[in-house]
Amino acid sequence: MAKIIGGITTSHIPLIGKAIDQGLQQTPYWKTFFDAYPPIHDWLEEEKPDVAIIFYNDHGLEFFIDKKPTFAIGAAAQYHNADEGWGIKPIPPINGDQELSWHICNELVEKEFDITICQEMRVDHGLTVPMQLMWPGNQYEHMKVIPVCINVEQHPMPSPKRCFDLGKAIGEAVESYDKDLKVVVLGTGGLSHQLDGERAGFINKEFDLYCMDKIISEPEALTSLTIRDLVEEAGAQGPELIMWLGMRGTLRGELNVLHSNYHIPISNTGAGTMLIENKE
Ligand code: DHB
Ligand code: FE
Repeated sequence: MAKIIGGITTSHIPLIGKAIDQGLQQTPYWKTFFDAYPPIHDWLEEEKPDVAIIFYNDHGLEFFIDKKPTFAIGAAAQYHNADEGWGIKPIPPINGDQELSWHICNELVEKEFDITICQEMRVDHGLTVPMQLMWPGNQYEHMKVIPVCINVEQHPMPSPKRCFDLGKAIGEAVESYDKDLKVVVLGTGGLSHQLDGERAGFINKEFDLYCMDKIISEPEALTSLTIRDLVEEAGAQGPELIMWLGMRGTLRGELNVLHSNYHIPISNTGAGTMLIENKE
């Protein structure tokens, strides 16, 4: 049976893609941020997951505000980068796992989640930057990816609890898949940030650290929050935390935080990185 071996949280700020493109990882601005990733590279190398399920949000590249699915799941053979960001060099396409995607989609509809199934889907920095961070040199050809895209650009947005429940249903779907696959789940985005308006540049370190603690020890403390609470505490784009809650919902074994790092600011954002082992 397929098994979820762990979860990873990471920022997906587009500027990170530019820093990778220009090889700036060891420069003073970036060093502390990028130094959080080698332990994750080592773990991925050791555990060798076959599939990555990636909770991310599309910032208007594939889904603009004229058509905005609340939950969109990729069921394509390949996903191409469509980010507008910074004119960086092209990256290789990202491979899908259509059979597992369809299994998850079938199970989700059975469990009364109204999803949009995407047999074609371009992906933006919400997904591509985490791929580049996890597999340096874009060495991710061996990985199969299931994109799970949640609306966090246009109100009304799904609640933290709804996203956690979606993660739970995806976790159960993976566990009922009868192929021996090792699956890692990524929650991307966050933590606190506000890119526009009067509070542009707002970062709340105390709240970010609270989220990094509670996401492990007491996710209910976060699923009881509303989107409005997240906007107040973490800025207009702070609701990206729901991607982390989707990831957390898929984990139900004994959790071990193998690595954790918090760094501010990267661009306008508090960047949280966590590697979480999910033991049976
Ligand atoms: C930034 C952060 C994001 O999450 C994003 O999607 C775009 C930009 C930033 O801090 O620059
Ligand atoms: Fe974002």
